[in-house]
Amino acid sequence: MRVTVFGIGYVGLVQGAVLAEVGHDVVCVDVDPGKVERLKQGQIPIYEPGLENLVRDNHAAGRLNFTTDAVTGVRHGEVQFIAVGTPPDEDGSADLQYVLAVAETVAEHMDSHKTIVDKSTVPVGTADKVSARIAEILANRDRDDLAFDVVSNPEFLKEGSAVADCMKPDRIIIGTTSARAEELMRELYAPFNRNHEKIIVMDVRSAELTKYAANCMLATKISFMNEMASLAEQLGADIEMVRQGIGSDPRIGYHFIYPGAGYGGSCFPKDVQALIRTADHIDFDAKVLKAVESRNDEQKTSLFKKIYKHFNGQLAGKTIALWGLSFKPNTDDMREAPSRVLMEALWQAGASVQAYDPEAMEEAQRIYGSRDDLALYGTKEAALRGADALVIVTEWPSFKAPDFDVIKEQLQQPVIFDGRNLFEPKRLRQKEIKYYSIGR
Ligand SMILES: NC(=O)c1ccc[n+]([C@@H]2O[C@H](COP(=O)([O-])OP(=O)(O)OC[C@H]3O[C@@H](n4cnc5c(N)ncnc54)[C@H](O)[C@@H]3O)[C@@H](O)[C@H]2O)c1
Repeated sequence: MRVTVFGIGYVGLVQGAVLAEVGHDVVCVDVDPGKVERLKQGQIPIYEPGLENLVRDNHAAGRLNFTTDAVTGVRHGEVQFIAVGTPPDEDGSADLQYVLAVAETVAEHMDSHKTIVDKSTVPVGTADKVSARIAEILANRDRDDLAFDVVSNPEFLKEGSAVADCMKPDRIIIGTTSARAEELMRELYAPFNRNHEKIIVMDVRSAELTKYAANCMLATKISFMNEMASLAEQLGADIEMVRQGIGSDPRIGYHFIYPGAGYGGSCFPKDVQALIRTADHIDFDAKVLKAVESRNDEQKTSLFKKIYKHFNGQLAGKTIALWGLSFKPNTDDMREAPSRVLMEALWQAGASVQAYDPEAMEEAQRIYGSRDDLALYGTKEAALRGADALVIVTEWPSFKAPDFDVIKEQLQQPVIFDGRNLFEPKRLRQKEIKYYSIGR
């Protein structure tokens, strides 16, 4: 099938590559000429396990092409995916300008039936807005004869395992009431639906809300556990024991109940906020979501508070080694990352940071440029040299079993702040390292 994907980001690039891998003929369109040029030369703009080979192989096979030419894109695909960003607007609601810009482009250049698929995370009612905009432009073009469908098909991939998630999705949500669109989407996704039925067809608004409900549920689990962790700290309990104690209940489960330094990334913070705003617009007070958000904002400051207290507020002139810049392991994405809140607070207090991350160093350089109080090192050991403390912010696998003797040797003072509870407190006591973690 001929498919066009607008937006070559985490979602669009992975989706395009995976669809090409099963044999679809995919054209990816982006407004960023540098990105398109690099992709044509086989350079992948993001780090995502397995993506590089997938993109190169399918590009070489001629099934995956990249362009800035929107007209070529519109003409190419029977299916037109919208996978552009939906960043928070000033008031926190999802900014739909990029989604609607793609809808307009499609409407201006289409000359046959198109199925337009909202893959971006968009508020309930967006498909209706997209339909209305397309109909208006077709009417202005005197092309009311052209038919189209707008489908909601939210994406559930996780950064860090995006390729695997798209190759073997847990579920494929298709929001449409059009029989034609349903049939086309079933055909498109048939290669991913062989093992067992994963397609769930529903009305458009339910599909749009499903995406927000999923992310908000996960964010709620995290904020709940962070609240339990703070309580455990005050009450003299160990949240890691509590976590295992409740996770063993199948109604609760072990997933997503790790306490930590707060959730980040391009999705949870913005989607929780956007759903709160959606509720506000209909005068509905989303009390749980508001609590989830404010708990997370507070949690992102928790590591800094522990560091501040340890050093009695005397952070000016101190050097802090920081392991982990990305918002979670296996990605270079630093959007809304807890590391950023922490570094900015440390700088504000006059400390400097020596950081290491397996993948996000270039991204850190891009965001912060060169500043005197941030040094990026090529190994986790080098980042320790002469620092007054080590802070672990992201649970990269390579941080899980470090050589504690090296850490002690390299640091001025043997103290670790662990935002991910990677180590046994008893082991660190034996090593005579002062150890702060979350909720223990
Ligand atoms: N990143 C994730 O893990 C994830 C997961 C599920 C859903 N989503 C949702 O998917 C959407 C995209 O997220 P992302 O992380 O891939 O975004 P991204 O910022 O990585 O990529 C968006 C891309 O769209 C391009 N773009 C903007 N306007 C365009 C236009 N008019 N035509 C063509 N390209 C255009 C940008 O240049 C950019 O390359 C968002 O709504 C997000 O909430 C993201």
